[in-house]
Amino acid sequence: MHSKTRQEPLRRLLLTGAAGALGRVLREGLKPCAQVLRLSDIAAMAPAGAAEEVVVCDLADKQAVDRLVAGCDAIVHMGGVSVERPFEEVLEANIRGSFHLYEGARRHGVRRVVFASSNHVVGFHDTCDRLDADCARRPDGYYGLSKSFGEDLSRFYFDRYGIETACLRIGSAYPQPQDQRMLSTWMSYADLTALVQRCLAVEQLGHTIVYGASANPSAWWDNGKAEHLGFVPRDSSAQFAATAALPGFAPGSPEARYQGGSFVTRGPFETP
Ligand SMILES: NC(=O)c1ccc[n+]([C@@H]2O[C@H](COP(=O)([O-])OP(=O)(O)OC[C@H]3O[C@@H](n4cnc5c(N)ncnc54)[C@H](O)[C@@H]3O)[C@@H](O)[C@H]2O)c1
Repeated sequence: MHSKTRQEPLRRLLLTGAAGALGRVLREGLKPCAQVLRLSDIAAMAPAGAAEEVVVCDLADKQAVDRLVAGCDAIVHMGGVSVERPFEEVLEANIRGSFHLYEGARRHGVRRVVFASSNHVVGFHDTCDRLDADCARRPDGYYGLSKSFGEDLSRFYFDRYGIETACLRIGSAYPQPQDQRMLSTWMSYADLTALVQRCLAVEQLGHTIVYGASANPSAWWDNGKAEHLGFVPRDSSAQFAATAALPGFAPGSPEARYQGGSFVTRGPFETP
């Protein structure tokens, strides 16, 4: 059963990570969702266009994030370290950064966040496993741990303060699948945009875990517990599987066995 759709567009929507791959896609795709889009990243972004504001901000800087969040009525949080990296880098951008963002949301009355979580919160599940929103989290590295923290953080801010969040466990959002694994994890940019739009539009979001994937034939994830979003993926990796000379992992390797793929063996970054 779908929750109702809100009719009013948001006044000001904050998009973090706006200089990144998905941020640049959403900068276009979220235009209809708000009267003003506030775009932010630590990196340089294209200058502000009509109905846009551009703010360079390090998520690790608490005061700067507080100013960034002021005046917004919702946040799409894409910013942060997006691959496996040494713990200290992940700590600053993802763990401290997400905390600063939610504190800003609490202080300034922001009611809704769409949080870019990741499939790497469940990366140590076997590729034979079929997962839904209630499966155990099995992060596959510091990056996955930071996203798992973000999911707990958002749950806490919902339980305590009623700030709604959708945690998007994004699979692989790329123009097209780049390896065999992505035939299961791929999410088209159009499906990602539609999912974020639904999370902003739905009247009651609550605290929702949803997997970010297109309607792939070899899917590992079940979004049955997020049906209230009314999100129906339109694309599928099937169109690429037929022509696939896509690279794969060695049979029997940990990368082939676990859903997290190459992330399960990345690091450690410090020598003994
Ligand atoms: N692309 C995917 O398939 C995928 C899959 C799972 C999850 N995600 C998540 O979605 C989000 C966007 O992914 P992406 O592929 O666009 O990644 P990306 O690396 O291209 O973009 C992330 C952006 O965050 C910014 N950033 C990093 N540290 C920051 C800091 N301290 N302060 C402010 N900004 C900072 C970077 O400059 C970058 O522009 C990320 O949170 C990522 O973890 C993406």
